[in-house]
Amino acid sequence: MAITRRSTVFAETLALVAALFVAATANSEGDALSALRRSLSDPGGVLQSWDPTLVNPCTWFHVTCDRDNHVTRLDLGNLNLSGNLVPELGKLEHLQYLELYKNNIQGMIPSELGNLKNLISLDLYKNNISGTVPPSLGKLKSLVFLRLNDNRLTGPIPRELTRISSLKVIDVSNNDLCGTIPTTGPFEHIPLTNFENNPRLEGPELQGLAVYDTNC
Ligand SMILES: *[C@@H]1O[C@H](CO)[C@@H](O)[C@H](O)[C@H]1NC(C)=O
Ligand SMILES: *[C@@H]1O[C@H](CO)[C@@H](O)[C@H](O)[C@H]1NC(C)=O
Repeated sequence: MAITRRSTVFAETLALVAALFVAATANSEGDALSALRRSLSDPGGVLQSWDPTLVNPCTWFHVTCDRDNHVTRLDLGNLNLSGNLVPELGKLEHLQYLELYKNNIQGMIPSELGNLKNLISLDLYKNNISGTVPPSLGKLKSLVFLRLNDNRLTGPIPRELTRISSLKVIDVSNNDLCGTIPTTGPFEHIPLTNFENNPRLEGPELQGLAVYDTNC
């Protein structure tokens, strides 16, 4: 009996140690944010509190977590950041607000952002982002705000976006997009000003004439 009891205590202790080990190492959200930090230039030192040795990133400035210590907000607007976004951002699966507006971020929008199934707001406006709008963003079924205006984006507006029924605000003005402006789904209620200053983007009146990708 004594032996059985001792081995039970031993097993319990082992389980506890294993649980603590997992808690200390399974910090994939902190790792994803650290990858972003390494990819950015931060002249104002606004990311100095991002200490990768902490158990989770929930005490870092500009990061908000829910009560289960999952990252729900990243508030990095207007902080003089430059550099590139990273595919690892797609691992922040509880993220609701990705606010990176008014910086000088360049490079492309990682297609992995389409994995952020809880995302409500994707604010990348007023940066220096190039490349195309990834069709994978059509997977963002919780998205309400999509503001990509004032960048250097090229290519068409992905038709996948017309299937996001939650979308209320879309702004892609001041880019270099081409093709035609969609008119279905959430696009039905977006004012044309939110598409202006894309010299190669055609008005929606041309839709149905199959010119959608001729200049695009
Ligand atoms: C950003 O840069 C401007 C000009 O260099 C400076 O005035 C401002 O304080 C900086 N802001 C931050 C958050 O570092
Ligand atoms: C924007 O990014 C391009 C490289 O993609 C770079 O050549 C240019 O200097 C950047 N513009 C600003 C204002 O930093």
